[in-house]
Amino acid sequence: MALDFSVKLGPLELSTPLMTASGCSGYGKELDRYHDLACYGALVGKSISRKPRLGNDYPRTAETAAGMINAIGLQNEGFDAFVKNTLPKMRGFGPKAVVNVVGHDFDEYVWLCERFDAEEGIAALELNLSCPNVAEGLQFSSEPGPCEKLVAACRKATQLPIIAKLSPNVANIASIAKAAEAGGADAVSAINTLVGMAVNWRRKEPLVANYTGGLSGPAVKPVALRCVWQAANAVKIPVIAIGGISNADDVLEFMVAGASAVQLGTILFVEPDAGQTIYNGLKERMLDAGVKRIADIVGTLKQRA
Ligand SMILES: Cc1cc2nc3c(=O)[nH]c(=O)nc-3n(C[C@H](O)[C@H](O)[C@H](O)COP(=O)(O)O)c2cc1C
Repeated sequence: MALDFSVKLGPLELSTPLMTASGCSGYGKELDRYHDLACYGALVGKSISRKPRLGNDYPRTAETAAGMINAIGLQNEGFDAFVKNTLPKMRGFGPKAVVNVVGHDFDEYVWLCERFDAEEGIAALELNLSCPNVAEGLQFSSEPGPCEKLVAACRKATQLPIIAKLSPNVANIASIAKAAEAGGADAVSAINTLVGMAVNWRRKEPLVANYTGGLSGPAVKPVALRCVWQAANAVKIPVIAIGGISNADDVLEFMVAGASAVQLGTILFVEPDAGQTIYNGLKERMLDAGVKRIADIVGTLKQRA
């Protein structure tokens, strides 16, 4: 049976539903050495800001039960260096290039969307609305009003498809997903990390210098699944799942719950070739279950009577 892995995220068409998650595998070259990247429909790079950012003090990561905490602080080379040095390489790996953008404030997001609109070979922009490790980082992801206003301004600034990346650190993720849709987002992705903390009680020290950080990995998967399901039920635009996805069954669980595509994050620190393993696993499971088109299983979760 010939299998069809293609998925449509509004105007963005991907050859497979697998994407990398921002910040977990650089911009492509970090994975290219392990396997052919054709298993990915798109690569999502680490967040890019207008100016270079050095990030937070070290230590910036710590292992936790079934996950990790990070407080990198959005370290990146900034728009100019990224466009000159990194974007040309990112475009050359095969999968579509999705640029994740982050701003300190409203104007920085809009500035970045305008500038990236003029660059060649970008398939979509993902707006990091929700980095919990930066003081200003939560304002656009926690209230529908500011979220809609920001997405609408970005919508005006670029013709590129916009993916609004949502935070789980909110009371009602459905209302934020709706706000992003109302602002003109082509898709939403969920979730970014959960605010967490880890402590060494003997040394009386936090394990990351920032004290708090973002929790990710298998530990957050049930929360992500709940958020994706709630968002998918609230909006008509596609939802991209992120959060603890580590194997082919995880991918299919998120797709049944309503995700049109998925991003691989923390698993890539453990198994850099997880994209290939998961792609192979998806093939096996689709053959097993008689699913020819992976898109057909999106949102097939049974409704209870
Ligand atoms: C070390 C690290 C750095 C991250 N950096 C970013 C980032 O720059 N921008 C962003 O939108 N998300 C960032 N994230 C969040 C991930 O993209 C993802 O949303 C989150 O980790 C949940 O997925 P996972 O459990 O599969 O890792 C980062 C996550 C980790 C672990």
